[in-house]
Amino acid sequence: ANKSLLVLPGDGIGPEVMGQVRRVVDWMDKRRAVSFDVTEDLVGGAAIDVHGIPVTDATVEKAMNVDAVLLGAVGGPKWDNLDFSKKPERGLLRLRKDLQLYANLRPALCFEALVEASTLKPEIVSGLDIMIVRELTGGVYFGEPRGIETLPNGERRGVNTQVYTTSEIRRVAAVAFELARKRGNRVTSCEKANVMESGVLWREEVQKLHDESFGDVELSHMYADNAAMQLVRNPKQFDVIVTDNLFGDILSDEASMLTGSLGMLPSASLGDVDETGRRKALYEPVHGSAPDIAGSGKANPIATILSLAMALRYSFDLADDADLVEEAVKKVLAKGIRTADIQAPGSTVVSTGQMGDALLAE
Ligand code: NAI
Ligand code: MG
Repeated sequence: ANKSLLVLPGDGIGPEVMGQVRRVVDWMDKRRAVSFDVTEDLVGGAAIDVHGIPVTDATVEKAMNVDAVLLGAVGGPKWDNLDFSKKPERGLLRLRKDLQLYANLRPALCFEALVEASTLKPEIVSGLDIMIVRELTGGVYFGEPRGIETLPNGERRGVNTQVYTTSEIRRVAAVAFELARKRGNRVTSCEKANVMESGVLWREEVQKLHDESFGDVELSHMYADNAAMQLVRNPKQFDVIVTDNLFGDILSDEASMLTGSLGMLPSASLGDVDETGRRKALYEPVHGSAPDIAGSGKANPIATILSLAMALRYSFDLADDADLVEEAVKKVLAKGIRTADIQAPGSTVVSTGQMGDALLAE
């Protein structure tokens, strides 16, 4: 059967970088033994302009029924003055919520050609390849009770609640263990079981799931504050890190900056497997719509192209094709071909489209 892909370019540089991804998909369609059914639709400001809302029910319905969704970026100054509930970002939030994408995957991969660009010593980041799995739909960002209240003495109090259930912990941990099997076979689970009840439960449930179903994967537990230190001290000790929403937000941002520019960072958000064996999945670059460079041909398409590679690997089970895309990125960088955001002394600075040309050539 054909592989179905819903492409949502969005706003700003979204359509520019997605244009290069479409070229890669077309190339694969012609040159590799895979066929894609690609549908394109509107999200974010682009959808507001046409439909008055940042994502329509019909688009959400499509997203629910494809093998993978690939999103560019949403937002921009044109829509900044709308109410929060009507903003472009709500389109993305609704997709994540309706598809119940509870596992956010953020790789931190060091490309050899960009080692010198790291703020850390080359020997610390050279060869680095970490995957952070962040729980995305639970924890302190959503827990009840929450709110700001005024106390009888006139003081105000802000409240958020960290809550996790066993099933929330187990499903995201399962994603991490399954990923580890396809990589270095090691999982580090991070929480603060020393001071938090939810952390105690997290540690117990991850250990239980491991002992029941993933005994072949090496599991260790680490306090999240220690993990923050270890990430800059010796990041290569990690393979897969699994952690909650809050710690994952911080640790994934920290890890991403070990290696490079915003223009290089892909991500995936995964949900449950349905009756047909298909896991709900949305792939997108970490960066936003970059209104400051939109329309200038300066956008780096690599983050979005690497997001496609993640889709090939995790939704389509096409590891060889994913490797091919990632190898092309490595070769192009090694030749010194760079968009402006990752330029280095002696490199050749190219446009978004020329980067697409160079990647296709490889
Ligand atoms: P941003 O990621 O769009 O840009 C930050 C800086 O990085 C800018 O200087 C930009 O030019 C540069 N940059 C980003 N991606 C790049 C690329 N591929 N190539 C070269 N340079 C790149 O974040 P910012 O400026 O905070 O937000 C701009 C808009 O994007 C806002 O409306 C924001 O809400 C939205 N946004 C959307 C996200 C999404 O769709 N997932 C995520 C983050 C922001
Ligand atoms: Mg963050």
